[in-house]
Amino acid sequence: MTSRFPNLFSEITLGNCRLANRIVSTGHHTYLSDDVPDDRLIAYHEERAKGGAGLIVSEIVAVHETAGFSRDLLKATSPKAVRAYAKLAKACKRHGTRMFAQLFHPGREILSAWSGMLPIAWAPSAVPNERFHIMPKPMPVSLIEEIVAGYGRTAAVLAEAGFDGFEIVASHGYLPAQFLNPRANRREDAYGGDFERQLRFLRDVIASIRTAAGDRTLGLRISGDEMGESGLSDLEVLRICKAVTGDVDYFSVVAGSSASLGGSVHIVPPMGLEHAYVAPFGAAIKASVSKPVIVTGRINQPQLAEQVIERGDADLCGMTRAMVCDSRMAVKARAGRLDDIRACIGCNQACIGRAHKGLGISCIQHPESGRELDYASVPPVTRRKRILVAGGGPAGMKAAAIAATRGHHVTLYERDRQLGGQTRLAQRLPGREEFGGIIGNLEREMALAGVSVVKDMAVDAGLIRAEQPDVVLIATGAKPYLPTGVGLASSNAVTAWDVLEDRVKVGARVVIADWRSDWIGLGLAERLMKAGSDVTLCTNAALAGESLQIYTRNHYVGRLHRLEVDIRTHARLFGIDGETVYFQDTLSNEPVILEGVDTLVLALGHQSEITLEQELAGQDVEMLSVGDCVTPRTAEEAVFEGLQAGWKI
Ligand SMILES: Cc1cc2nc3c(=O)[nH]c(=O)nc-3n(C[C@H](O)[C@H](O)[C@H](O)COP(=O)(O)O)c2cc1C
Ligand code: SF4
Repeated sequence: MTSRFPNLFSEITLGNCRLANRIVSTGHHTYLSDDVPDDRLIAYHEERAKGGAGLIVSEIVAVHETAGFSRDLLKATSPKAVRAYAKLAKACKRHGTRMFAQLFHPGREILSAWSGMLPIAWAPSAVPNERFHIMPKPMPVSLIEEIVAGYGRTAAVLAEAGFDGFEIVASHGYLPAQFLNPRANRREDAYGGDFERQLRFLRDVIASIRTAAGDRTLGLRISGDEMGESGLSDLEVLRICKAVTGDVDYFSVVAGSSASLGGSVHIVPPMGLEHAYVAPFGAAIKASVSKPVIVTGRINQPQLAEQVIERGDADLCGMTRAMVCDSRMAVKARAGRLDDIRACIGCNQACIGRAHKGLGISCIQHPESGRELDYASVPPVTRRKRILVAGGGPAGMKAAAIAATRGHHVTLYERDRQLGGQTRLAQRLPGREEFGGIIGNLEREMALAGVSVVKDMAVDAGLIRAEQPDVVLIATGAKPYLPTGVGLASSNAVTAWDVLEDRVKVGARVVIADWRSDWIGLGLAERLMKAGSDVTLCTNAALAGESLQIYTRNHYVGRLHRLEVDIRTHARLFGIDGETVYFQDTLSNEPVILEGVDTLVLALGHQSEITLEQELAGQDVEMLSVGDCVTPRTAEEAVFEGLQAGWKI
């Protein structure tokens, strides 16, 4: 079946390194290890190597003590470094995958005061970044020379450990990009002042690595466009790539910059951005350089990757979250099992979302990711039980799939005609259509595991008596939460679910009361504005979409700004009277009054649906509850609890 993917599954050489195919897991900071790779990180990458990745670029390794970007940062300075990296390289390479490492210095892009205090951010010049509110300190030449030497020292350690190659992270506005950018580099010495001198740092770094690591492959990761006011433009990047094409072995093209809120969205592009939208930048660079090009960004399916390479936009494709989500994506594609691939939906919640909280990465759809040591292989059951799952949302579906994979006899009942629970509603919002992917993917997992599914049938005590299951797994989800006493029942108020399910028509002037401050409020505002209403989004949080991962939030808030949606923050719903809606400022408690409102849309969160649990209480039946019916949270917790329940029963 590789004939379906003649380009993707053809060999290619980068520098001196032959790769078995064109699928790359690009460098991503996993927060699974600190200092040097440990067993968690090794198990994580080995799983992707077993899954058929041609190349794994392991995560950023700090090249100098001033590269204090965040916590859980890999380094190559301790005495145990060679042994630890060698274990990682060996574990992956034995499956035929090649291993490269990213050599990294953030310059002024310091993610947080991770050690309790902000470290000194060193950069070419004292030019602040917009995103982290950091004013960096200009580097003296002696420090520049030390850092340049650090690239070489780090490469030497990793080469000794068996890494096949290295990648300089000049992408996303990090230190090499700061030197290359005349708006960030205001120096007038050997490292700045004109194009050649701005290039000097990168050239020195390349020379340092080449000297230390000899014939190992060396690539340059660079943003094809940094997508920001003061970021590198596409034309500037082309000029840089042309200038160094003779000195590196490949280019790894991405988009965006850490330095600005808008630019940083592209570091891990959310669902609302087009699939493979970075490919044109890859194509432009490929046309200007003499070396292979990797392009990365929302390429989540092998069919798409094949097209990108076939079109000649790139020679290889980064498919990073595609393999966070489904580590076996490549082997499934090669075997023609395309329907079995669990496609990444670009939600950013459990991968980069967890990373930004300093937690080991995972996947909302596949919580086993990043937890390879805990969930290595599904344990078969010793006694086959009859399991009845009540509810076909993410929690119920995952629990059913795992329980059936273990050997239980599982029947899942869903009261609606369709599976999916709240994800079914989420996919009705603009730019969130892919949320529905969770449903299809879990449905496929259930089918492969042999789960019987009965739709359009609610579970009650009578059904349980008739079926006599050994265990009832309650996954009945949640329903909209409606506070009492604010005049909602007799008013123009409707719930977010009413709107999403097209049960009501909204008026010309709409106010959304948004308590969860997540995708529902933002998505409804966009949908209703596009449908012609004049929308005010009132969130009780400090910023709209506060609960969302930052790149996701900024992308969707940017869309609302473009549509001129009126956004009010710190607004707590107080009540409604006719066409007047009353809010309170959550800080001052002062009233905020909106008049002439035709429809108030309530996005006030959810409450657990516990009717079945109450009905079965006291009866002689073993029960286990999972997901929102325990307490309302997000799909991430729901799927994870489904996994745990399936593992337990
Ligand atoms: C959790 C996470 C951490 C990342 N950390 C890095 C990093 O340290 N260095 C880097 O160059 N890119 C990093 N990236 C970006 C990825 O390499 C990749 O470019 C991005 O995920 C878009 O590709 P995809 O759509 O195939 O996932 C990270 C991505 C994720 C999801
Ligand atoms: S958490 Fe979402 S974006 Fe991240 S890998 Fe999983 S599906 Fe993709």
